[in-house]
Amino acid sequence: MGMHDQLLVLKVVVAVALMVSATAYAAGNFNTEFESTFGGPRVRVSGPGGQQLALTLDRGSGSGFKSKREYLFGRIDMQMKFVAGNSAGTVTTFYLSSDQSTGRHDEIDFEFLGNVSGQPYTIHTNVFSQGQGNREQQFHLWFDPSQNFHTYSIVWNPKLIMFLVDETPLRVFRNYENKGITFFPKVQPQRIFASLWNADDWATQGGRVKTDWSKAPFTAYYRNFNIDNSINGKWKTHDLNPYSRMRLRWVQKNYMIYNYCTDWKRFSQAFPPECKHAIE
Ligand SMILES: *[C@@H]1O[C@H](CO)[C@@H](O)[C@H](O)[C@H]1NC(C)=O
Repeated sequence: MGMHDQLLVLKVVVAVALMVSATAYAAGNFNTEFESTFGGPRVRVSGPGGQQLALTLDRGSGSGFKSKREYLFGRIDMQMKFVAGNSAGTVTTFYLSSDQSTGRHDEIDFEFLGNVSGQPYTIHTNVFSQGQGNREQQFHLWFDPSQNFHTYSIVWNPKLIMFLVDETPLRVFRNYENKGITFFPKVQPQRIFASLWNADDWATQGGRVKTDWSKAPFTAYYRNFNIDNSINGKWKTHDLNPYSRMRLRWVQKNYMIYNYCTDWKRFSQAFPPECKHAIE
């Protein structure tokens, strides 16, 4: 091989290596990073690189999966498409949790509550620290999440937790330890979990609308996840900028349907301490 050919080979090798790493970034392999938690054959991985996963729910059972590894901080992106049509009673989840057997677990929750056809999904978010939760915020969306895949992201760094949909922040939950508030998950590593299950005793319109089993099996789709916990990752310093703050305010004004920090009935004695700071 002449010098020129060797250079060409090198160029091709570099180009292929770049392509491979770019694909790995865009679409992780569910078979490598995750394992089933329940539902047996109702958890189905597909695609040449294992980059798609479908969960189903039928009368027998729901289904779910979790990451094999644990993470202490990072950013997780998951493309999801929810149960279409009459999804009342079904709950689809994507969340982080530390070991629940300790009784003092941490958790960062995204839950998607189904609805009757034509009525909006509810996005439920919550944060647990040392076994305590009660930090709920809920939203509707500005699109129908059962028609197409959208990207749902959790950014978790020592300063904040951010919930995003297609890069638009729905919610920012900050660490106010500099103000003496210790409620923030920051020492226990967490796994990534996802599930589809029946919760028709509470999920839709307060439990009044039941799951229509004649429409079963119900299916929710996950694909192209990305986990970034790299040392120099952008997630480390991720925060609001003027544009994303404007988007957050737009969501809060038009799509927020519940905020624990304004629930006077529930917290008639005292609001959780972070509420007096938590205005973005
Ligand atoms: C379902 O639709 C009703 C009526 O639009 C709405 O109030 C509710 O928030 C929606 N979501 C759930 C989970 O009930």
